[in-house]
Amino acid sequence: MTRRKVIDLLNTALELEHSARIQYLSHAETLFGLDSEPIIVRLKEIAGDELKHEEMFREQIGALGGVPSMKLAPTLQADGIKKVLEVNLKGETDAIDFYRKILEEIRNSKDELKYEDLRLEHQVRHVIMDEMEHAQELKLLLG
Ligand SMILES: [Fe+2]
Ligand SMILES: [Fe+2]
Repeated sequence: MTRRKVIDLLNTALELEHSARIQYLSHAETLFGLDSEPIIVRLKEIAGDELKHEEMFREQIGALGGVPSMKLAPTLQADGIKKVLEVNLKGETDAIDFYRKILEEIRNSKDELKYEDLRLEHQVRHVIMDEMEHAQELKLLLG
């Protein structure tokens, strides 16, 4: 895997993070009523984590000599608490699957990224662990 391809994968990840944050914030504003209150708070907190992920991907792309994307991956609307939780749980598990792929590609780029691979790997693992926490929490909220 070339440096260029790793940058492309990281940019796709960055676009996923842009969309995840915006989707969580938008969904949070569509929920009303007493039952929604703790969920709204949590959705906004998760959006804050996605912002940190964006920053991490952006910095790593820049450090590798790439240009961070300003695009969004597709977003989904959802109606009601259950649907919001389901749609975002799917988003989290899709992100985990994709980030695992990135991790593998970084490991296959040891020669190309000789002095950068472990740092990059560490950062991506950190994001995956956050997404696993998000997925776990959405699952618990779904009951
Ligand atoms: Fe994220
Ligand atoms: Fe997440």
